[in-house]
Amino acid sequence: MKMHRFLFVAAFAAAMAAGLLFGNFGSAKASGDLAFEHQEWTFNGIFGRFDRAALRRGHQVYQEVCSSCHGLSLVAYRNLMDIDFSEEEAKEIAAENEVEDGPNNEGEMFTRPAKLSDRFVAPFPNEQAARYSNNGAYPPDLSLMVKARKGGADYLYGVLTGYEDEAPEGVEMMDGMYFNHSFPGHQIAMPQPIYEDSVEYEDGTPATVAQMSKDVTTFLAWTAEPELEERKSLGIKVLIFVLLLTALLYAVKRRIWSKLH
Ligand code: HEC
Repeated sequence: MKMHRFLFVAAFAAAMAAGLLFGNFGSAKASGDLAFEHQEWTFNGIFGRFDRAALRRGHQVYQEVCSSCHGLSLVAYRNLMDIDFSEEEAKEIAAENEVEDGPNNEGEMFTRPAKLSDRFVAPFPNEQAARYSNNGAYPPDLSLMVKARKGGADYLYGVLTGYEDEAPEGVEMMDGMYFNHSFPGHQIAMPQPIYEDSVEYEDGTPATVAQMSKDVTTFLAWTAEPELEERKSLGIKVLIFVLLLTALLYAVKRRIWSKLH
């Protein structure tokens, strides 16, 4: 292979590896004019991993606070076992919810406790019911929210911590809306969900607003991209492979050309 062509191939492969490593590029940088700050997340960067303790606490916050309004329809209870919940724990969490199943032998639908294979049970049977309970606003499904919004995890954290008791002077609030400096337009229909000690953490971590917001955002980053860790390890492997291959081919090239004078 000619050297320049070879270099081109190597550069292309390196770019592929970078793609695997950095996945959603731009998501944090794209935040531009919106009012939220960049946070440190353990899952960012090429060696990024989800902090297991934060995921566990984040699940608790979702369960005890958010799940009364927001669904998580793309996540099954058994997926919790991927983040180190035991089978027993996942089963218990599932069984706290009821799902409709059927028809039975008599043609009737019936309810039963949820199983590992069920998806997280939604709080409302349909969008109308959800809107009816929320002043006409729709609490969106949170499974992919971290990927769906510019700024991703930083934005979500910004919204959860961005409430202010009073709108700044001169801002006319619409009925049933709350002032939030991170939400586009600053008026959000979701009342502040997280307050100091909204939950009591099983691991004893102090439940500050910042801590709970960070933990639940970490949990939602996992639901949005459960394969993040595998993607990054694959990226690193590809990168190492490309580097070794480049060194090897370069050595071969020098050797061959050294005899051609
Ligand atoms: C009382 C019901 C309720 C609870 C509890 C609640 N939310 Fe919401 N949430 C809403 C509603 C309603 C909206 C739609 C707001 C709007 O569009 O103005 C919303 C919107 C959102 C959004 C979308 C913002 C956007 O960019 O569109 C996120 C993210 C969110 N909630 C996260 C959470 C998290 C995380 C929790 C738990 C800590 C939570 N919510 C708890 C009702 C709720």
